[in-house]
Amino acid sequence: MKVSIVGQGYVGLTISVFAAQAHQVIGYDRNIEIVENLNKGISHIEGVNSQVIQELIKAGKFKATSFPSDINASDIIVIAVPTPLNSQRKPDLSYIDSACKVIGENLNSPALVINESTSYPGTIRNYIKPAIEKYSKAKIAHEYAISPERVDPGRVEWNQKNTPRLFAGLTPEATRRTREFYATFCDNLVEVSSPEVAEAAKLFENTFRQVNIALVNELAQISHALGIDVRETLDAANTKPYGFMKFMPSAGVGGHCIPVDPSYLAHLALENGVRATFIERANEVNLEMPAYIARRVASDNGGSLKGKKVLVVGVAYKPNVADTRETPAEHLFEALNEMGAVVTWSDEVVGSWKGQSSSALGGAEIAIVVTKHEVVSSEAILKAAPYVFDTTGAVKGAVQL
Ligand SMILES: NC(=O)c1ccc[n+]([C@@H]2O[C@H](COP(=O)([O-])OP(=O)(O)OC[C@H]3O[C@@H](n4cnc5c(N)ncnc54)[C@H](O)[C@@H]3O)[C@@H](O)[C@H]2O)c1
Repeated sequence: MKVSIVGQGYVGLTISVFAAQAHQVIGYDRNIEIVENLNKGISHIEGVNSQVIQELIKAGKFKATSFPSDINASDIIVIAVPTPLNSQRKPDLSYIDSACKVIGENLNSPALVINESTSYPGTIRNYIKPAIEKYSKAKIAHEYAISPERVDPGRVEWNQKNTPRLFAGLTPEATRRTREFYATFCDNLVEVSSPEVAEAAKLFENTFRQVNIALVNELAQISHALGIDVRETLDAANTKPYGFMKFMPSAGVGGHCIPVDPSYLAHLALENGVRATFIERANEVNLEMPAYIARRVASDNGGSLKGKKVLVVGVAYKPNVADTRETPAEHLFEALNEMGAVVTWSDEVVGSWKGQSSSALGGAEIAIVVTKHEVVSSEAILKAAPYVFDTTGAVKGAVQL
């Protein structure tokens, strides 16, 4: 089958590589630099090997493009574009809309359109299908389905092949074709009764993480006030063989999913007359963590950070990846700057962030560890400053959150 994947980021490129084992894949992205690099066989995504791309290009199974017309005559179109929040923290479907425009204007024969971008229940039925129909001058009747993406960049043991994949079509024919497509590269397909169930399940998976992370972050604050070690408390609770799942405290949540997706659910809930109070409070607790950490560090350092040289260690949102989207390090920077600290950062995995290069790991009065990559040793971090505050639990010998 000819399969076009709209968006060649973390999700789109990962899917492209798996789908190209069995199909002819066109990777469409409006970012010309990404397209040019992919066609040179250079991957920009952790977990997607450049050599694999080179082999697929050589075998004629994968081609990246920024020409929308290249998606014409596809049997399957997969949408994998960003679904962020706008400045009011409300769903921003503008990327989905522009993808629908590309599809509506350029796909001139019937195809199956599958959405993998994360969005609220009803997106494929009430937003994507009408938008593509609006943009399609030829008025082609496509089939529509949803299969939310569960990829976790950097995780090796769970991938496209072995991670169970939810799916549902708007019609039985769409459901059948979606199963047929994913069966070519996924081992475990889970059909649900409607696209809305699949869309809601994806949002709830990430809401579950967001709320539980907020809960342990609150526990970390309570434990500190009570003089109890939060990590030992969590280890102790985790000895219960059932009914408990351990989450770890941190500087907050980051990445494209956990800080964002729950707000999609909260938005739809409110539109339907229900306030998602857990989601709202969890957002607040997680977003407040950097300011709490800055206050703790100030209190350990004579009550003020004014003029102090503070080094933030690790600005990626999680270990061993270069992704800084929605990183809590950003909020920590703001909180430290507001307190008058002279703030720099060091992250050799990220390298460059907000137009600046990573500083050396040292020369500071205070170091605060937001993310601990494996390539950065605890010993090196402990030598970076006379006072080291660790939000990760990985740097033994540092002051712990
Ligand atoms: N990154 C993850 O771990 C992850 C996991 C599960 C689900 N998701 C969801 O998948 C979706 C995509 O996320 P991502 O992390 O791959 O994003 P990304 O930013 O890595 O990649 C998106 C790509 O889409 C391109 N793009 C944007 N608009 C376009 C358009 N109209 N036409 C063509 N290309 C366009 C961008 O240039 C970019 O290369 C989001 O809804 C996200 O929530 C992401």
